Amino acid sequence: MKKVLITRILPDIGPRILRESGQIDLSQWPHEMPPPRDALLEQVQGMDGIVSLLTERMDGELMDAAGPQLKCISTVAVGTDNIDVNAAKQRGIMVTNTPGVLTETSADMAFALLMAAARRLPEGERYAKSGQWKTWGMTILLGQDIYGATLGIAGMGRIGAAVARRAKGFGMRILYTARNRHEDIEHETGATHVSKDELLAHSDFISVHTPLTLETRGYINAAAFEKMKPTAVLINTARGPVVDTNALYEAMKAKRIFAAALDVTDPEPLPADHPLYTLDNVLIVPHLASASVATRNRMAEIAASNMVAAMRGDEPPNRVG
Ligand code: DGY
Repeated sequence: MKKVLITRILPDIGPRILRESGQIDLSQWPHEMPPPRDALLEQVQGMDGIVSLLTERMDGELMDAAGPQLKCISTVAVGTDNIDVNAAKQRGIMVTNTPGVLTETSADMAFALLMAAARRLPEGERYAKSGQWKTWGMTILLGQDIYGATLGIAGMGRIGAAVARRAKGFGMRILYTARNRHEDIEHETGATHVSKDELLAHSDFISVHTPLTLETRGYINAAAFEKMKPTAVLINTARGPVVDTNALYEAMKAKRIFAAALDVTDPEPLPADHPLYTLDNVLIVPHLASASVATRNRMAEIAASNMVAAMRGDEPPNRVG
C-alpha cells in the first residue's frame, strides 16, 4: 500500500477515488483551517504522495521531511506557485495540477467582478440595504459602460482566452499581452496583441491572467497605475502578488483609477483590518474564482486521479514537473 496524505478537506469524490483505488493507505488533515507548518511537516513524514491545496507551501524542506520515498505532489489547483517545482524535480518527485476544468468557472468570476465593479453593485447593495435609497436619481452611483469598452487581458492562457470570448459577446474591443501571439484567439475574438504600455494606456478594463512568476510579481505596480486611464477598472483573479498591494492602495485611495475588483490578494487572506477594505472603489472576494460545486468536484476528482496514476507507477495525465 502507498501512503497518501490529503492536506485539507476536499469534496468527497477526491478521498473516495483514492480509497477505491485499493492501493492507497489514506490520511487526511480533518480541520477546515490549513495545518500549521509544524503539523504539516510532521504529517508528511513517510508519505509516498501528497494531495495539497494552494494554501500549503511545498518546498524542499517539506519534501525532505516527507522522505526519499515521496513520489508525487498533486495540487488541487491549476496554479503551482506554492510548489517549488525545481526542488521536486531534483528529488525525482512528480508534480501534477488540475488544468482545464476550472477555466470557464474562473472566467465567469473574472467577468462577474468586471461587471460588478463597473456598475458598482456592492456599493448599490450597501446603499439599498442601509436605508440610503430615498429616490431614483440621475447622478446616483454612476458606473462605467461595458458594451463597446476596451478590455485589456494580461496573459492569454486558457482563462484569458475564455474571458476574451465572453468580452466578444459583450461587444468589447479586446487587447492582450502575452509572450507570444495567439492567432487562433485573435481570429476567434478579434483580440489584438499589444505591448504592456499600450494595454495599460488604452484599456477601460484590465483583467490579469498571468501565472505568478518572478517576472510577473508586481506586474501591476505604481508605474502601471500611472499609465492607466482614470476611468479604468482593474480585475485580478490570477494571484495576489501580481498586483503590488501598496501601489494598489495608494492608487485607489487617490482615485487614480475608477475601481479595482480582486479575487486574490497579497497577503492572502487579507487581514480584516487592512485599509483596502475601507475603500468603496475596491471590491474584494475571498479567492472564489473556481468555487462552483461542479468545478470543485472536478478539481478534486482530477487531483485524486493524478495521484492514483502516480502511485500505480503510471504517467499522471496532468504532470507539470
Ligand atoms: C487555481 O486553481 O490556481 C485557483 O486559483 C484556485 O482554483
